Amino acid sequence: MELIIQGNVAKNCHPEGLRQGIDKQIKYVESHGEIYGPRKVLVIGASSGYGLASRIAVAFGGGADTIGVSFEKSPGEKGIGSAGWYNNIFFRRRAHEKGLIAKNFIADAFSDTTRNDVIEYIKQEFGGSIDLLVYSVASGVRVCPDGTRYTSTLGVRGQAFSGPGFDLETRQMVNQTLEPVTDQQLADTVKVMGGEDWQRWVDMLSAAGVLAEGFKTVAYSYTGPKSTWPLYKEGALGAAKAHLHATADDLDAQLQRINGHAYAVICKALVTKASAFIPMFPLYITLLYKVMKQKRLHETCIEQMHRLMLNHLYPPMGNVVTDDERRIRLDDFELRPDVQQAVERLRKRVTTENFKTVGDFAGYLAEFYALNGFSMPDVDYSSELDLRQLVKEYS
Ligand code: NAD
Ligand code: NA
Repeated sequence: MELIIQGNVAKNCHPEGLRQGIDKQIKYVESHGEIYGPRKVLVIGASSGYGLASRIAVAFGGGADTIGVSFEKSPGEKGIGSAGWYNNIFFRRRAHEKGLIAKNFIADAFSDTTRNDVIEYIKQEFGGSIDLLVYSVASGVRVCPDGTRYTSTLGVRGQAFSGPGFDLETRQMVNQTLEPVTDQQLADTVKVMGGEDWQRWVDMLSAAGVLAEGFKTVAYSYTGPKSTWPLYKEGALGAAKAHLHATADDLDAQLQRINGHAYAVICKALVTKASAFIPMFPLYITLLYKVMKQKRLHETCIEQMHRLMLNHLYPPMGNVVTDDERRIRLDDFELRPDVQQAVERLRKRVTTENFKTVGDFAGYLAEFYALNGFSMPDVDYSSELDLRQLVKEYS
């Protein structure tokens, strides 16, 4: 059985490989420094990427009970289901083995019904409060509580921007273009990927009285080096992230009442379902990976989230570690001048012929495959999966 890729989207997954992926992340945090952090954690966007790694870090690095909210497909008539579906199940199994609470909500994070269900659960079965909320949603669509449906657009402000990028389906380097967004598209993208929904989570949790004294909340963001600004920071996504940063400051002020804090966390660029989708961005990631691996600075989601919890958000001594704009920086290694200078040198050399060796294309693919449970060392991919068996075991 093989991974099927269409465009830059994975179309199937392998449960056994996903189980190994979860175990690998658990093993990492269990052998890298205990987190003296939160006991009761709610993660929105918990089934993959940064959200899943956050959940693993606090549970297996610090013994926290967790609630995870995500939008995923179970195995059934429409196929074997999504990677995140299995990640949720394998996470829960391991957490239960450790005696930790691990509750999964497969539900729309943008809906008030979901918020009310989660609040009810916190009150009835989770001890009545949470001390950390992680907001890690990546979505192209948001249906607001008033029923309006917004879609986000990957696009630039000002002139169209073109450059080399990857087609993962054909494994070729191709020219890609980001078109300018209209004012409406820009506003809609901010609606979907800005801070409004994070704010609503905190407002409703707060009004329900389920935020513990000293409560903290984080949401994930990206800034990147100047070479990526036209396609990210200065584009529609960047506008949404700017809104998210402002929301962090609003929430921080609002949470003073309970000695609480809110932070935007600027993460490093890495391979996830969401980042594969951004034109030109994967090429930058392959150049960055090449350099960061050479300099022994390479990190994936789990290293980043473990570092976030251990060193920045819950440092054993002293205060939360931020920059002077009150943002938590996990992109410190990525943005090191020597790293970016080396990336720029590679960028000048990279061509459609040599991109597989100049950048870490193999490393990119390996992580993309692993996200979906493929290319794991100890899985037998020769046999086909039995859908009926999967439905019986996992739905
Ligand atoms: P991801 O695709 O791996 O995870 C997204 C999560 O959101 C999944 O758990 C998915 O189920 C959930 N989700 C999507 N729509 C939902 C909905 N309507 N209701 C409930 N859950 C929903 O993405 P990721 O890369 O981990 O992104 C998470 C955050 O990290 C985003 O804010 C992203 O901008 C940020 N970030 C990513 C990178 C990167 O390079 N990947 C870098 C910096 C910041
Ligand atoms: Na996530």
